[in-house]
Amino acid sequence: MAIIYDSTHRTFKLDTKNSSYIIKIYDENYILNLYYGAPIPDTYLAKREKRYPNASFSLANPVIGEHGFTPDTAPIEYGCNGAADFRISALAIRNASGDSVTDIRYTGHKIYTGKEEIPNQPSSYAVDGDAETLELYAIDAVTGAKVTLYYTVFADAGVMTRRVRVENASDKTFDIERVFSMCVDLPTMDYELVSLYGRHAKERHIERRPLAHGVQGVESKRGVSSHAQNPFIALAECGSTEEHGSVYGFNLVYSGNFSALVECDFNGTSRVLLGINPTDFGWKLAPGEAFDTPEAVMVYTDGGMGEMSRVFHRFYNTHLIRGKWQYAKRPLLINSWEAAYFDFDTDKLVAFAKAAKEMGIEMLVMDDGWFGKRNDDTNSLGDWFVNTDKLPGGLAPLIEQVNAEGLKFGIWYEPEMISPDSELFRAHPDWCVHVAGREPMIGRHQYVLDVSRKDVRENIWQQMYDVLSKHKIDYVKWDFNRNISDAGSAILPPERQKEFFHRFILGTYDLMNRLVTTFPDILFENCSGGGGRFDPAMLCYSPQIWTSDNTDPIDRLYIQFGTSLAYPASCMSAHVSACRRTGFETRGSVAMWGTFGYELDPRKLTAEEVAIVKEQIKEYHDTYDLVRRGDLYRLVSPFENKHRAIWEIVSPEKDRAMVTMVTFHCEVCGIVIAKLRGLDPQRYYKNEMTGEILSGAALMNAGLVLSGLSADDGESLTVYFTAVE
Ligand code: GLA
Repeated sequence: MAIIYDSTHRTFKLDTKNSSYIIKIYDENYILNLYYGAPIPDTYLAKREKRYPNASFSLANPVIGEHGFTPDTAPIEYGCNGAADFRISALAIRNASGDSVTDIRYTGHKIYTGKEEIPNQPSSYAVDGDAETLELYAIDAVTGAKVTLYYTVFADAGVMTRRVRVENASDKTFDIERVFSMCVDLPTMDYELVSLYGRHAKERHIERRPLAHGVQGVESKRGVSSHAQNPFIALAECGSTEEHGSVYGFNLVYSGNFSALVECDFNGTSRVLLGINPTDFGWKLAPGEAFDTPEAVMVYTDGGMGEMSRVFHRFYNTHLIRGKWQYAKRPLLINSWEAAYFDFDTDKLVAFAKAAKEMGIEMLVMDDGWFGKRNDDTNSLGDWFVNTDKLPGGLAPLIEQVNAEGLKFGIWYEPEMISPDSELFRAHPDWCVHVAGREPMIGRHQYVLDVSRKDVRENIWQQMYDVLSKHKIDYVKWDFNRNISDAGSAILPPERQKEFFHRFILGTYDLMNRLVTTFPDILFENCSGGGGRFDPAMLCYSPQIWTSDNTDPIDRLYIQFGTSLAYPASCMSAHVSACRRTGFETRGSVAMWGTFGYELDPRKLTAEEVAIVKEQIKEYHDTYDLVRRGDLYRLVSPFENKHRAIWEIVSPEKDRAMVTMVTFHCEVCGIVIAKLRGLDPQRYYKNEMTGEILSGAALMNAGLVLSGLSADDGESLTVYFTAVE
């Protein structure tokens, strides 16, 4: 049993293979957290409820009395606003009488095998009943808010997920002002906060800072999860490394405005919150209605950041990504964007396909520029009909010719956008996201389409359905090229405008869900100016995401190392482009640690480059399973080493491994010794490059000698290992 209820102590114990989590129902039905950390056998730990009793100026519950327990310092399981817990709160409800005091107490629980879906939202799933769920019921007696705290334990995966439902069980409407997906009080603040910051073309760079007293954290209010901060944070024990030490990882399955906050209080404890950003959020809940938060994924391990990442990777590959393309081999693609931008026609694309076919590429993706009158980025978003000047006769003749070359065919969309210069905008000027009396801000010459509206979604759905149902389209790249300002919807009443951002995301999910269920064979790839919507929610609809518009392999090292903190290689789209900063080999080595593909004009390659591409494609097929199923070890991080990055991927069976080193800002590169990880110490492995056979123990302790690179910037070396019997 992964979830146990100890009725003597009124505690719940939630166990994964990496962690234990203990919840206590205390006097007056306060719900407290007694423990979250490495596995322990106990179901109760005494003297943890009061944690720091009797602090001056702390307030007491009048029934419990002034001696000992105070909500000010107790480890409250789901902190509420205004009832003597002064830390950042997970829940605040403004009730009919206008105050926002909220105070929930336990009323009951249910434990069952499996996991329910969240209505209308993406979330992780159980496989063959490999999860158990605890529903903890609580009520705020005054507002009548019934709160369900959901905990799902994936014991073998080492993962726990949480989410919250608020129902209005009163006879008056109330306003939810903040409702986080999870809250956890940890007893110390001896952690560093790890987060992933960035911008367009520089996504998910790793940042690590010690916790300090007060509130700290990261968030987005851009309407999307964003390039600027990812909905992921970790708390890494001070002194922990890739391989050692306690780490808590938190990731939100949400594509909208999020907040990941940590408050360290005067006692040196840490409260962690993750959920919808309360800024620009509010939700009116009428009697009988319910509100569901997105899901938070939680990983604890004492195996360092590296193990935390591997737990996330396995979990996302097996319990989040879904559909045909979760496990089916995905086609190796070439994308037209960097090769042609808007300048293409049928003949050029067919010529790309011919040249690509020669090298072994399996799919041609026609990027932006095929619809309306779009020859640059100033117009036509929303007009999803073919530009027959470019593609005479429409898509059918093009697709037939591409297919005749033996290639599949993919297409680009940006469904949630509208150009002011479009037929759609001229017909429906109020369909863009805007507020009364203000001209909306413009980005890349475009507005955002108000997909919180059903009529708007229906229009886009019809247009997409017409194209996708009538043509042999194997792949869709779904883009989103600006952030959302002037947030409001023409059809929401004033008192509901605060619901807009969340309604927008629910609208996006609805449209995506309709498409992926209607076209289960299409491979969807998510994109937002590169990786501006690289989050777990998008992985529920598209098993791969364009990691960044930046395809420079050295810049990509940072982006991919950062992205890999939470997200697996199977979803990190990575292409070899025409970027000249390094040779072709290194571009291939870096892209190989991802979905792999090309983004260049295949007609312009030299004979020598064509030969390299053919080699790379052989290597891609050979390592396809290893990269997608294997365990990642970040041996040398570019964030910590000025000269090189080294990563290793080991098959789950520990019978194959690949180690790649890329050098940059190069000193004279002498001998580098990389201590490998994750091998079986007892087995022997053949170095496929040198033929040398060494034990796993030797490779992990004495290390692998990597040499042979010149002093040039941007060289790479990949060594393969195979276990010998
Ligand atoms: C975004 C994407 C690119 C490309 C362009 C097309 O920037 O990230 O890959 O699709 O849009 O406009």
